[in-house]
Amino acid sequence: MRVPFIAGNWKMNTTVDEAVKLVSEMHPGLEKITSVDKVVCPPFVSLAAVKELIKGSSTKLGAQNLYFAEKGAYTGEISPLMLADLCQFVIIGHSERRQYFGEAGEIISKKVQAALRVKLIPILCVGEKLEENEAGRTREVVAEQLRSSLAGINEADGLIIAYEPIWAIGTGKAATGEQANETIGFIRQSITKLYSDSIAQNIRILYGGSVNSANVTEFISQPEIDGALVGGASLKADEFVGIVKQTAEIKSITK
Ligand code: PGA
Repeated sequence: MRVPFIAGNWKMNTTVDEAVKLVSEMHPGLEKITSVDKVVCPPFVSLAAVKELIKGSSTKLGAQNLYFAEKGAYTGEISPLMLADLCQFVIIGHSERRQYFGEAGEIISKKVQAALRVKLIPILCVGEKLEENEAGRTREVVAEQLRSSLAGINEADGLIIAYEPIWAIGTGKAATGEQANETIGFIRQSITKLYSDSIAQNIRILYGGSVNSANVTEFISQPEIDGALVGGASLKADEFVGIVKQTAEIKSITK
């Protein structure tokens, strides 16, 4: 049985004080829900402060990126070792990293490997652009992203994948539950081909792109969708708690 998983990607939002305030507001609500894995991913500079606040609780912490080298002359970068002390998860290959910072296959695969080496769990993001979707190329694009991002990775156990169609991110235009379920089912089949059926059955695959408390049930009620990677709506405590709560309710009914 795959435990439902909801992660909040705060992106480049919140100062340290704002991050502390936001997590203090959502934490009591999150702690009441134990049947869902809950992760918040604030900016790097707030990880230490948020870690203190949620210490010993069931809410976990993630980073939004990392560099693959352990240490050295890489001005401005953050290494896997630095993060391993602070958090349990790390988002890798987010479409904004691909789009604005030129990240692609090989770099992403190195980042996934670097995270796994220090026992950080990668949340690997894949997803197609609008024009690729309209040209009917979604499967081809997603399959290629998976193949290149996972090249050289023998152990995919524990990895989390987020399917985030780029046209649905931050646009308010979410995919439909059926569309997302279909592509996520395809991702699971691809994992079977790359690894094994048992790994594919255990791996958690999330939907991301304009998820909020008003539309989350549409996604979560789909059999292939194990949770959500939430951007904008994770910056509001009541929204994020509402998303986690509805996920717990729906997944307990559909078990
Ligand atoms: P959004 O972002 O929920 O604001 O669309 C999702 C994401 O980029 O992870």
